[in-house]
Amino acid sequence: MIIGNVLFDSHEIQKTVRTLAFKINEDYKERELLIIGLLKGSFIFVADIVRYLKMPVLVDFITLSSYIETASSGEISIHCNLKESVRGRDVLIVEDILDSGFTLDIVREKILDKSPGSLKICVLMDKPVKRKRAVPVDYVGFTVPDVFVVGYGTDYNEKFRNLPYIAELRAE
Ligand code: XMP
Ligand code: MG
Repeated sequence: MIIGNVLFDSHEIQKTVRTLAFKINEDYKERELLIIGLLKGSFIFVADIVRYLKMPVLVDFITLSSYIETASSGEISIHCNLKESVRGRDVLIVEDILDSGFTLDIVREKILDKSPGSLKICVLMDKPVKRKRAVPVDYVGFTVPDVFVVGYGTDYNEKFRNLPYIAELRAE
């Protein structure tokens, strides 16, 4: 597998991240926000977006994976528990990409079980073509076609997460 077309360069990504942060700042004002990033794909997105947020922010992560090679398996394993308490807090789930919807559907249910004060979802990319579960998403950066993307945290078999841009993955 090789890197194909660049979909979003680092400049476009930063512009979009700033726009998302602007909306989040408007919506929450000074309310303390608990950001829950889904690892590993969201690690760069979380690191970037929190630096544009102006309210007091707590950051936590959940580790999970649902992808085997480049197909969503529908089997999601959650590897670690949250360190921060969710009860009564304003929670924002931050994810790299929404595809079939299985991942965010399950994570959302798990977090709702912990009685947050409010819960919203922010995704950098939405790939709506293969959606199997409807997920209410509050902030979307880019809508992407049905291609496998890598870079800016997203991977193919753990590679390419370090690319500063987002590109299409192509067979050689
Ligand atoms: P579902 O299908 O559960 O998938 O909505 C969401 C998770 O799958 C990963 N994913 C991708 N990762 N390139 C990637 O590197 C992609 O094109 C892609 N599509 C989905 C993603 O990590 C997300 O957590
Ligand atoms: Mg992910």
